[in-house]
Amino acid sequence: MSSTPQVLETGRRYVDRVETALSDRLPAVDTPPVQLHAAMRYATLNGGKRFRAMLVYASGEALGTDLKTLDVPACAVELIHAYSLVHDDLPAMDDDTLRRGKATCHVAFGEATAILAGDALQALAFELLAADEALRVAPVRRLRMLQILASACGSLGMVGGQARDIDATGTTPSLEQLRALHSAKTGALIRAAVQLGALASEHVDEPTLQALEAYAGRVGLAFQVIDDVLDEESPTGILGKTAGSDRAADKATYPSLIGLTGSRQLAADLCLEAQAALRDLDLDTAFLSELSQLAVTRHY
Ligand code: IPE
Ligand code: IPE
Ligand code: MG
Ligand code: MG
Ligand code: MG
Repeated sequence: MSSTPQVLETGRRYVDRVETALSDRLPAVDTPPVQLHAAMRYATLNGGKRFRAMLVYASGEALGTDLKTLDVPACAVELIHAYSLVHDDLPAMDDDTLRRGKATCHVAFGEATAILAGDALQALAFELLAADEALRVAPVRRLRMLQILASACGSLGMVGGQARDIDATGTTPSLEQLRALHSAKTGALIRAAVQLGALASEHVDEPTLQALEAYAGRVGLAFQVIDDVLDEESPTGILGKTAGSDRAADKATYPSLIGLTGSRQLAADLCLEAQAALRDLDLDTAFLSELSQLAVTRHY
C-alpha cells in the first residue's frame, strides 16, 4: 500500500510515535506462545493509517497534555481497532483475505490463532489503560477512561454495531437504522478516541467534552460512510482491501441506500458539522479540524 500525499505532516509525527509505542508494548515475537505473539504483532504493526491514535493525540494536545501520557490511550484504541479488524475479517464475519495490503490474520496464521490474537489484543488495551505508568492521571480518571473504552467496545458500541451489520446483510435498512449501525460499529471507537485524549487532561470541563463528542460523532459516521464509498470506488491496490467486497457480500451500506454522490455529500456535510462543533472551543483545534477533513478526503 502506498503512502498517500494527503497524510498530513502533523499526523506523521503522531503516526511514528504510536508505531513505536505499540511495538514497545506488544510482547516480543520470541515470547511464548510465539505464534500468538507473532499474530498479534502482525495484525497491529502493519501499516494502518492510525486515524484513531491521531484523534487521541489531537484532542489531548489541544488540552495541553504531554505526548507520553497520550501514548497509552493512543495504543489502547489502536489495539482495540486492530482486534476488531482481525475478527471482522474472519470467515464467519466478512470473510476477507486482504487487509492493509497483506494477507488477513487468519489467512496468515489460521483461524484459531487469529481469534485468540484478537482476544489478546483487546485484553492488552485494557491492561495498558489500567496500569501503564506512562499514563500520568489520577486513579479515578483511569477508571473513567476504562469505562469509556469498555462501553465503546461492547454490545452497545462497536460489537453491537458489528451484530447489527451482520443482521442487516441482505436487507435494506432505513437510513436511520443504517446511521445507528455505522455510528456504533465505527463511530463508537472514534468517539472514545477523542474522549480519551481529552480525559487525559485534568483540566477538561464538561462543555468541552460535549463539544468534542459532537465533533467525534460526526467524524465517526463520516469515516464509515467514506469507508463504504471507497469499497466501491478505490482499487484494491490503493485500498489494501479487496475492492467491491461490500457489494459482493450484499452488505447494507450508504452507497447502496443513497448512492455514491449522495454518500459523498453526506460525508462532506458531516465534516462541516464536525468543524462547527469545534468553533466555540477556546483551544487550538486546527489539527482536529484537519482530521475531520482527512476522514472524507482519504483514498484508503
Ligand atoms: C477500517 O478502518 C475499518 C473501519 C472501522 C472503517 P481504517 O480505515 O481506519 O483502517 P486502517 O487502520 O487504516 O487499516
Ligand atoms: C468494520 O467495517 C467495522 C469494524 C468494527 C471493524 P467494515 O467491515 O466495513 O470494515 P472493512 O471495510 O472491512 O475495513
Ligand atoms: Mg464488517
Ligand atoms: Mg470488513
Ligand atoms: Mg468497509
